[in-house]
Parts: sequence; C-alpha cells; structure tokens
Amino acid sequence: MPEKPHLLCVDDEPLVLASLRRSLGPLLAEMDFTGCGSGAEAIRLLETNSVDVLVTDLRMPPPNGLDVLLCASKASPSPLRFIYSAYHPSALPFEMVCLPHGYYLKPLSPLLLAQAIRSAFDARGSISPGPVRDAIVGLSSLPVLPETLRSLEADVRNQALSADRLAAMSHKDPAFAANLLHLAFSMSQDPGRRFKGVLESARSLDIPELHLTLKRGLPAALDESSGIAREWRSLHAHACQIAGRLIADCPAESTDEYISTGLLHDVGRQCLLHMKPDARVPEQANPSAHAAISAALLRLWGAAPSVVEAVAGQHQSPVSGNPLASALYAANHENEKEHTHEFST
Ligand SMILES: [Fe+2]
Ligand SMILES: [Fe+2]
Repeated sequence: MPEKPHLLCVDDEPLVLASLRRSLGPLLAEMDFTGCGSGAEAIRLLETNSVDVLVTDLRMPPPNGLDVLLCASKASPSPLRFIYSAYHPSALPFEMVCLPHGYYLKPLSPLLLAQAIRSAFDARGSISPGPVRDAIVGLSSLPVLPETLRSLEADVRNQALSADRLAAMSHKDPAFAANLLHLAFSMSQDPGRRFKGVLESARSLDIPELHLTLKRGLPAALDESSGIAREWRSLHAHACQIAGRLIADCPAESTDEYISTGLLHDVGRQCLLHMKPDARVPEQANPSAHAAISAALLRLWGAAPSVVEAVAGQHQSPVSGNPLASALYAANHENEKEHTHEFST
C-alpha cells in the first residue's frame, strides 16, 4: 500500500496545533499529520523526513516560520508551503524572501485551508515525482530582468506603484508577470480565487501594503554573468512575441487574459533553466515536456483553468471549445513558421 502523504503543521501555540489537527478533518483521512511546537523541531523533521505539505506559523521564537519555509523550499521532496499566521505580510518585522503557495491569516475557516491544501496537492500531482517537480514546488519566485528591478525599486522608493504600472512592467518581463500572479494568489484570502491575467492580479493587491511587502522582499535580478542569461532573454523575447500575436485579434474584454497567457506560456522553460543542468536532462530530451511543467507551475501559482488548459495544450491542435487554447496554438504555430530559432515553440 502506498504511503500516505505527510502533512506537517508548525505553531508555537499548542491550542492552534490542536485545532488544526481537529479541524482539517477529512484531509487527515488521506494524510499523516505531524504537529511541531517549534521551528527547531520542524527543521529537524524536514531534514530527516519526507514532508509533502507544510503549514507554518511565522512569528515564533527563533528559528521562525520563515526559516522553516526556507528549509522546506530546499528539501527533497519539496513540500507545498502554507503560512497560517495572525500577521499580515506588511506587518512582519523580517523580509518575505520565500513566497509560499498560500498565506492565510488566522482565523481562517478550516474548510478553506483544507481546500487550499487539496488544490495545491492536485496541481503538484500533475508532475511525476523527481527533480523537476521539486524545482517547481520549491520555487518561490523567478529572477526578473535587472531593468524591471530598477523600475520596481524606483516606484517603491517614490511611492508610485499602481496596478497599471505593475502590469506594464510585466508586459516586458514574463518572469515578473509570473511572480505577480504568484504574489496575488498567495496573498488572496480566498483559496478558490484564480486569476486570468496579470492586470487582474495586480489590481487584487493592496498597493500601500504591496509597497511594504516588496520593500521587504524584492525579487532577485537575473545574474547577467550567468550561463543562462542569454537563453533567459531569448525566452523572454519569445514570450513577448507570442503575447503580441495573441492580443492582435483577441476579444476586447479578454486582452489581459490573452496577453498574460502569451507571456506565461513557456514559464516551465524558465523553471528548467533555473535548475542545475544535469537535473533537467530528461525534459530537454522531450521538448514538449515544458508545456506540462508550465501548466503545473501556473496551477500552483493561481492561474485560471482556461489559462492552464491553453498552456498545457500549447503544442497540440486543440479539441476543446477553449478559444484561448486555439489562439495560443495558432500563435505558436505561426511563430514557428516565421522563426526557426531554438525558442520557436
Ligand atoms: Fe512552448
Ligand atoms: Fe512558446
């Protein structure tokens, strides 16, 4: 009989742990539950045991929840990470350098927390266990282009951020678009919330709080001297090209969804580039594997089902009635005819 997935909950307040154990109810029929009363205990467990899902408090005597999250993001298998805390991210005294798959404020209905865990678990299950899945689940954010980071820093400094400015930055930097989607989804208090596009994601964020959040955890910039910088930029250019093709004749009310799907459709390739070269060999041998990887990452980071479906099927002529999927397939196909470079699809 296969082993049950392992759920680890961490909170220095015994009553919260007891209530989590009691209230996660039906989920616990499918998962083994461990409760840890301190960050140190949780880190020891993560280093010696396989954990599939982590739910942690943030403010605890050191090591705090962020230390636990960082340790989890490097573990293998990489657990899905959830924060369950009384503190809003903008009120945290430390940097938010590791974005979770969901950040929920206490008290949250246990049913909602269970729903969040289950849907992330299903998204993780769409990729078979191994280094690629660990890379997707362990990923907290993608490096952004240095010019994006400069604009972002200037806007944070000048208190000039707005949803439109964030969306405009993401239109030039697909990795930033992915980060924005992830940030909006993980800050949303509704586990059922899904986003059709980056503008919608940006609009869901509370801008004054976002200032504080970003100040405490700006994404990292792409290292221009690294071996992947050239490929990374080509990939960005390709994604922007596909986005441009998709908005050329999309329904006016769906511009955000179409442009975002173009920007994000190859995010799995960025994820693969991010990995150690020897760990991604099987996926490179099968060039279409990145469609499934992109779709799994987008599901985990809160993209709407229409977007995920289109991205998953980007290399096959669509059979479903999803016009976005047909448009993405056609855009990739047209692009391939015109450009025969390595990032043609
Ligand atoms: Fe592709
Ligand atoms: Fe592509």
